[in-house]
Amino acid sequence: PTIVFVQPDGSRQRIEARVGQSIMEAATANLVPGIVADCGGGCSCATCHVYVDPEWVTKLEPADDIEQSMLEGAIEPNERSRLSCQLRMSDALDGIVVHVPAAQF
Ligand code: FES
Repeated sequence: PTIVFVQPDGSRQRIEARVGQSIMEAATANLVPGIVADCGGGCSCATCHVYVDPEWVTKLEPADDIEQSMLEGAIEPNERSRLSCQLRMSDALDGIVVHVPAAQF
């Protein structure tokens, strides 16, 4: 399944992920700028923060309590904020669009 990353300047990068791979893992494997992922996917750093495109928000499982509390420490979170290490790719998410924030810390 593909993921489209949109940078703050509007540029788009389409990458191919594996089913079961997290959006963070796919981003770092493809050197997508702006996904820092300091903790390596442990849901403890919030530097893998992304804004999910409005069309896709409802297609995701809601954030659990740990993710929710970590998101409060992210830079400029909003109602579309998620930690990309907690989003697992599936065929249903083929084509998902996520926006990379201007800063992660
Ligand atoms: Fe650290 Fe996602 S990689 S919270």
